[in-house]
Amino acid sequence: MLPEILTDIPGPKSLSLASRLARVESRNVTFANSDWPIFWERAAGTNVWDIDGNRFLDFTSAFAVSGLGHSNPAVVEALKSQADLLLHGMGDVHPAEVKVALCEKLSAITFERWGAGAGKAILCNAGFEAVEAALKTAHLHTRGKPRIITFAGGYHGLGYGTLIAGGMAKFRAPFREQLGELAIELPFPSCEEEMVALESALTLALKKNDVSAILVEPILGRGGKVVPPAGFLPLLRRAADKSGAVLVLDEIYTGFNRTGRLFACEHTLVVPDIICLGKALASGFPLSACVGRAEVMDAWPVSDGEALHTTTSLGNPLGCRMALASIEQHCDPSVAHKVIATSERFRSALEAIDSQRRGKVRGIGLMLGLEIIDPTIGAPNGDLAASIILNSLKNGIILLADGPAGHVLALAPPFAISDEEIAFLCQQLGEYL
Ligand SMILES: Cc1ncc(COP(=O)(O)O)c(C=O)c1O
Repeated sequence: MLPEILTDIPGPKSLSLASRLARVESRNVTFANSDWPIFWERAAGTNVWDIDGNRFLDFTSAFAVSGLGHSNPAVVEALKSQADLLLHGMGDVHPAEVKVALCEKLSAITFERWGAGAGKAILCNAGFEAVEAALKTAHLHTRGKPRIITFAGGYHGLGYGTLIAGGMAKFRAPFREQLGELAIELPFPSCEEEMVALESALTLALKKNDVSAILVEPILGRGGKVVPPAGFLPLLRRAADKSGAVLVLDEIYTGFNRTGRLFACEHTLVVPDIICLGKALASGFPLSACVGRAEVMDAWPVSDGEALHTTTSLGNPLGCRMALASIEQHCDPSVAHKVIATSERFRSALEAIDSQRRGKVRGIGLMLGLEIIDPTIGAPNGDLAASIILNSLKNGIILLADGPAGHVLALAPPFAISDEEIAFLCQQLGEYL
């Protein structure tokens, strides 16, 4: 449904909550000023209602979590029925049955579906933990090789392990003294011409035979919705095979039909050694998973009673049940078909915006990005993107920006986004641009 604005944005209740929060929440968590944020009260489908009663149209899926729509009814039902039974178990000591069911399902939809035998999972909470579990696995599997190949513009989360591997300097800089220099960062290719240089850099990086993992997003998400050339993942697969490094695909953003395939690696024939999943996995519960080929995951020693990697909430039954309800829907091929069809119409509508400040439309599926540029010099225009986001909020549209210069409007709506809603966004963007 199109937005319905009842008051000024942010309304009085949001403003009051922001000032209460500023007194009790650490700085640098919630950004707030007189224009931002709104406080969410409820959400359904493509809509979000704030505490002041305004209805918004969400083009973010709340960080790409709610592809199946906010408060997806089957997921809510799964949560409610599980809540009556068991809220929390003892994940790595006395687990719940639903953890078994989810690990089986994760194996079935990844490595078994790809014809690569069984997959084994480590369930985690936040996305970064799944990536850190993958990096630990790679270290064990390669018998202690220390280094990691990563890519510029990559984002894997903000834990210390993932910061070592993150390709966005801004997040690493304040903590540099406490981070090991273990990453070899290579450029993420955005076109065919960049592949030759990349191949040489990759060969050089692997020369010392000290790399445990090649960690990569199949498509840069927060890095600006950059789709690499078709040969990129196959090149990484060959390099991993040759060197013995573990190929870790971070599909925390791209997974679960966001790109029009269940997983983005399925646009190629590449099967990773490990796939990291999160965000849309449980459609609204902090659950993530590191799923790898059994042979790779079996680098972990058999537990002697004290797990080497676990958390208090590992395999939380609510999250597992919600994930199973989400996955069941994602496995219906009509979901991917809808993403592809909607993506084509969305892309055309964006490309029809007639302005010199509109740059390229990037991305794939419902993981699109609209570059905002300064036409005089053709440079990224992050300031204009920021003001568009602010104006959009005032007109009932929730947007975010990506990319190193913050100049790529990130368009990752729930999959049920309608043509009317897309037209509304594009008409607004046309006015701001
Ligand atoms: C590709 C990718 N990996 C990892 C993460 C980190 O996930 P989380 O914020 O749940 O730790 C993100 C978050 O945006 C992501 O986009």
